[in-house]
Amino acid sequence: MGNVSSNLADLPAPIRTRSDVIAHEIRPLTIGSIPIGFPVVQAALSGYSDGPMRIVARRLGAGYTLAEVMIDRFVMDLKNRTKTRRHLLVTDEEHPVGGQLMGSDPTEFGPAAQKLVQVGFDVIDINFGCPVKTAVGGCRGGYHLSQPDVALEIVSRVRDATPPHIPVTLKMRRGIDDSSESRDRFYRILDGAFLRGAAAITVHGRTVDQKYIGPSNWDFLREVKQYVGSRTIIGSGDAFTAQACVDMLRYTGVDGVSAARGAIGNPWIFQQAQALAAGLPLPEPDLAEQRRVLEMQCELCLQYQDDVGACATMRMFGIKFSRQHPAERQVRDAFAVVKTVAEWRAVLDRWYV
Ligand SMILES: Cc1cc2nc3c(=O)[nH]c(=O)nc-3n(C[C@H](O)[C@H](O)[C@H](O)COP(=O)(O)O)c2cc1C
Repeated sequence: MGNVSSNLADLPAPIRTRSDVIAHEIRPLTIGSIPIGFPVVQAALSGYSDGPMRIVARRLGAGYTLAEVMIDRFVMDLKNRTKTRRHLLVTDEEHPVGGQLMGSDPTEFGPAAQKLVQVGFDVIDINFGCPVKTAVGGCRGGYHLSQPDVALEIVSRVRDATPPHIPVTLKMRRGIDDSSESRDRFYRILDGAFLRGAAAITVHGRTVDQKYIGPSNWDFLREVKQYVGSRTIIGSGDAFTAQACVDMLRYTGVDGVSAARGAIGNPWIFQQAQALAAGLPLPEPDLAEQRRVLEMQCELCLQYQDDVGACATMRMFGIKFSRQHPAERQVRDAFAVVKTVAEWRAVLDRWYV
């Protein structure tokens, strides 16, 4: 996901005013037999949604989180090495948590899914959405939207390989492009996946060609939800704020919202959305709360990573969290140059008092 902009400031204003059509009721989400609760969940985010980010999201109100996408072969080859074993660590307080798989060869998905179940993931999600060149060029991720038969073979293989109580879910973009063939293939995969036992499908309202440029098509999400009836659809795309998450639920009628870029540096988005849905004012974290959560995430990182690794991770998150700070630019610049966890903590002492 290297080229993906996760900087909200780089993006066009995403929130459209749709008060004229906002109507749908917001209900608790379930994925298969797993009750999730309030229907704003933490998306799979490559490079971000590691154990510490997921735990922070859970402690701050996310009913469900997803690990960053893993390539099926990577899962099978993972050894118990310090650098990589954290990808397969699932802690008790994370449940329910989803593991996401991406690959090209349908035969490799089943064994990889079994391994994810063995290490404790509660849901297996299949990635048919990733638009990056290496994924699509390697016939993985979003590429599968161009070949429904292969995509559906993958769904069957994962469903057959995992125990019945483990929900299998999909992540799809709305197609490869805007052509009618692409749209037909989307619906073939959608229908076929539910027929083969998929418990829920997350739909990102952008095409693969679109990558991250231009808006996510919420009208398409609305259409898909109307089409599937009681089956579970989670919407994705432009859920940048708590208000946007609530707007997506009300406007499109989807069963859940996947908070992605909007949750990076704002793990309060889940409780904020819940408050807004209840008609309460938006709860904003003060500096003490921001510091508490930053320190919490750093402590969690240090359980998985050495000082160098934890510093790199928390430098990245510090920069994202700085958006919540009144002195955003100075705080971001201060986080950007830290080389040790001690220097990172000194930024907290200087700016979060
Ligand atoms: C940095 C980054 C990493 C992502 N990693 C994944 C991933 O591992 N798996 C996945 O299904 N989607 C991934 N996505 C896509 C998001 O889950 C989401 O569908 C997309 O960002 C649209 O939502 P947004 O516009 O609210 O950010 C990623 C997106 C970003 C920005």
